Amino acid sequence: MNYDDVVNGRRSIRGFRPEPVPRSVIEEIIALASRAPSSMNTQPWHLHVLTGEPLDRIRADNTERNLAGVPPSRESRGTGQYEGDHRQRQIEIAVQLFQAMGIERHDQEKRQDWVLRGFRQFDAPVSIVVTYDRALADGDIAQFDCGALVNGLVNAAWSRGLGCVINSQGIMHSPVVRAHAGIPDDQVIMICVAMGYPDDRFPANAVVSKRRPVHEVARFVGFADTEAEALAPAVARS
Ligand SMILES: Cc1cc2nc3c(=O)[nH]c(=O)nc-3n(C[C@H](O)[C@H](O)[C@H](O)COP(=O)(O)O)c2cc1C
Repeated sequence: MNYDDVVNGRRSIRGFRPEPVPRSVIEEIIALASRAPSSMNTQPWHLHVLTGEPLDRIRADNTERNLAGVPPSRESRGTGQYEGDHRQRQIEIAVQLFQAMGIERHDQEKRQDWVLRGFRQFDAPVSIVVTYDRALADGDIAQFDCGALVNGLVNAAWSRGLGCVINSQGIMHSPVVRAHAGIPDDQVIMICVAMGYPDDRFPANAVVSKRRPVHEVARFVGFADTEAEALAPAVARS
């Protein structure tokens, strides 16, 4: 696969085959992802690669807390409720996923089942918990660096036939993750990445999320054609 094929082909995977992922493959993926740029090459990230019993204990405790209505205790700050365009895009992907899974809008049982799947990290055989050094917690750059690493991680995994879903759900109860994964206190839990071999029969895995077009995402300043555009009204007036 060339770079474009990986980037264009990758999508979040939320249904996994049960077979384990060899440690050597995960190490290869992490080595590639570690080539991510970071501020002043500080590489502030740590990856806690979980499988088997510790991961199952996290799933069980996450599920228990969720069913008991325990409020989230996530270490990395979320944004709260999205509004406006952000909310629209959030709804759009949710509708795509629910349609693929045959979940009707008012079907509370299936919706709850979907949420719980998320808290179990979609039963993936591997979860990689991404943390960064607490000494950097007062700034915003370490989190940015982690984002670069994680993008590399999911693309490297895809290039090797593995699928991932980056997810907040798995670390929503950060103390649970910290305890079962043995994460030291001098690290902040940022996010986790569920990973495994994609189950091609799982309908949500086929969902391709939309993207804003370039002209909406970017504006160009100082380019010859931009200058021509900027001059156009003046020319029309003269
Ligand atoms: C920071 C972050 C948190 C996310 N949390 C979740 C999550 O909790 N559950 C989930 O199903 N997907 C989660 N996702 C996956 C996004 O929904 C997904 O990346 C987005 O809809 C674009 O789809 P794609 O990855 O298939 O291109 C998360 C992604 C990011 C980057």
